[in-house]
Amino acid sequence: MTVLTDRQLAPRTEQATAVIETYELSKTYRTGFFMNQQIESLKKCSLQIFAGETFGLLGLNGAGKTTLLKSLLGIVRPTHGRSQILGSSIDDPEVRQRIGYLPENAYFYDYLTGWEVLEFTADLFQIPHKIRKQRIPALLDMVGLAQSAATGKKMRQYSKGMQQRIGMAQALINDPDIVFLDEPMSGLDPLGRKQMRDIILALSDNRKTVFFNSHILTEVEQICTRVGILSRGELIACGTLDELLTYSTGSYTVQGRSGSMDILQRWISDLEVDGDRWRGQLRGEPQEFLATMRLMEAELIEIRQGKMSLEDFFMQQMSIRGINSST
Ligand SMILES: Nc1ncnc2c1ncn2[C@@H]1O[C@H](COP(=O)(O)OP(=O)(O)OP(=O)(O)O)[C@@H](O)[C@H]1O
Ligand SMILES: [Mg+2]
Repeated sequence: MTVLTDRQLAPRTEQATAVIETYELSKTYRTGFFMNQQIESLKKCSLQIFAGETFGLLGLNGAGKTTLLKSLLGIVRPTHGRSQILGSSIDDPEVRQRIGYLPENAYFYDYLTGWEVLEFTADLFQIPHKIRKQRIPALLDMVGLAQSAATGKKMRQYSKGMQQRIGMAQALINDPDIVFLDEPMSGLDPLGRKQMRDIILALSDNRKTVFFNSHILTEVEQICTRVGILSRGELIACGTLDELLTYSTGSYTVQGRSGSMDILQRWISDLEVDGDRWRGQLRGEPQEFLATMRLMEAELIEIRQGKMSLEDFFMQQMSIRGINSST
């Protein structure tokens, strides 16, 4: 008999190093003519992200994802709390050298070519010419823009998706240890999304840490090792997909052999029978079902806790809080 519950905790070791840490990070924007209106965009957000993780931050429009990312990067000043990257402040130039950033709405000089954008960024990072001569074509190739770059197309002639791709190449120009991506899939066609996904997976294979914001739950599900959900500025859930999706469902699938079909039909929905073997969805409590099985001398082959999809989990979390539209 095998009893599988899938309750595997994160494969994190004691030595895991937190490379991004926030403690009660909060941001209240002041707006209005007299700056007398307040928008609490981030509320006491405490988070740890470990080296080599691909962390996806989810949330509806206006949930505070960009605010959190910008607060981490020192682009906006938090009103409360603190954060560290690679054990230091983001103001530390050495830390800045080791991170890459793709903003939500990347802006480029219209008259530059893709190649020149990357040259310009390489200048800012003081990357030696010998290295950039190899890195720029490799990055252009990686984001699928080698051809556009070869024709000397200017940024004003780039489509939204092409700009997003060049933004990704720009974020990687310094071969960063941590990459922050704000909606990396935005504006991309299906092929572009797949390429972006493959780039993120390749970064992960190279032990880079990736922190990204997204709405596209299926993409997040495919590439993240851990996810966090922000709702109205609050981090309402955070964990590995196994932790979040397995614990949050009370459903079990069961498989077994022999026993009384009448009794099994009462306990199991979608019952499938093949000879003396059967399987289906358990209706009641597993412990009570196991006791019933012993009484009817049935053999249990497997009982497995069901998993929700990330989308179901996300919707459940929103509905628990009575949220049915973006703020
Ligand atoms: N500069 C600003 N001044 C005033 N309010 C702001 C500013 N930037 C963001 N906000 C507000 O803060 C809240 C969070 O915005 P933020 O951009 O962080 O959300 P988001 O989760 O990134 O949304 P989206 O998915 O649409 O990108 C929103 O209510 C927004 O209106
Ligand atoms: Mg945003």
